[in-house]
Amino acid sequence: MPTILAIESSCDETSAAICRDGKILSNFIASQSVHEQYGGVVPELASRAHMQNIVPVVDQALKEAGCQLSGIDAVAFTQSPGLIGSLLVGGQFARSLALALEKPLIAVHHMQAHVLANLIGEPKPSFPFLCLTVSGGHTQIVLCESPARMKVIGETIDDAAGEAFDKSAKLLGLPYPGGPLIDQYAKKGNPLRFSFPEPQLAGLNFSFSGLKTSILYFLQNAGKSHVYKETFTASEEEKQRFISENMADICASIQHRIITILLNKLKKAAVETGIKDICLAGGVSANSGLRNGFAAMGKKYGWNTFIPAFEYCTDNAGMIAITGYYKFLEGHSDPLSIPTSARAEW
Ligand code: KG4
Ligand code: ZN
Repeated sequence: MPTILAIESSCDETSAAICRDGKILSNFIASQSVHEQYGGVVPELASRAHMQNIVPVVDQALKEAGCQLSGIDAVAFTQSPGLIGSLLVGGQFARSLALALEKPLIAVHHMQAHVLANLIGEPKPSFPFLCLTVSGGHTQIVLCESPARMKVIGETIDDAAGEAFDKSAKLLGLPYPGGPLIDQYAKKGNPLRFSFPEPQLAGLNFSFSGLKTSILYFLQNAGKSHVYKETFTASEEEKQRFISENMADICASIQHRIITILLNKLKKAAVETGIKDICLAGGVSANSGLRNGFAAMGKKYGWNTFIPAFEYCTDNAGMIAITGYYKFLEGHSDPLSIPTSARAEW
């Protein structure tokens, strides 16, 4: 019954988890509120907060799992990709712990871990499966043949889906991160009231930057046009009035377009690969419209659909632990000298 201690520190969540025999016994996450006032994550502040959080977070994960350090069989950690200073804090802690405990060190790719979060809990998808991973930094369709064999078959060429939500929210004057707020407003709005363009991009890649530009012009013209004009037709006052009077419909229409961009590509990937076990992953999979649209599409096309429990969708060490567990079963371990990397190949 291998027991894995896992650490995640790629962005602004410090998290530790314990996994025993494929079951997550604890998944403790400390979020960093320091970034709210800046409207986005400040890398230097994130590293400093990880430094403060890492020891208590690991202690708490051990305590909640009823586990001692002496009972750990391997230490897994997020090696890449992410903010380099943040990754280094969790990574150096994991390396030191593995050295002190004389146990194997297992380096984990953060985006692969988002995909394998679908192997936590029951029912599990069967291999091969497809996973649409949607977060603040990434948007990918992954073909997963086994825990060790994954291939990105589609990804964004510009903004990630979470960024599309957050940047749209910013244009509407909503605070960061605006994705959950758009979701809330959208529940009361008409998704078909305003029409935003769907990019005509061949293949399985995504693009969201055109949507952002069209929303910008749409608001600057107080909803009268999506196209660029040298002089916008609305004054700042008219623009603000238009937003406040139509917030729910604007949010619902933006959300509708982001979801159709995502799900139309996922449908294309399912048709091209013939795969019927299909998963969601990443923070944006918390979006209620995406969850409903995904479930409806699954029903229509006969897919078996999977979404991890919410705590395993956003950044968390539970997903690092389950990935570390599968790597451990394969006998995988990494040298203490393995470098941390902000960007990483698969
Ligand atoms: O995976 P995640 O927690 O962090 C990384 O980016 O790795 O994803 C965060 C993103 C943010 O862009 C946030 O706005 C978005 O997920 N998000 C949502 C919702 N909840 C979180 N976007 C839309 N609707 C939501 N309910
Ligand atoms: Zn993530």
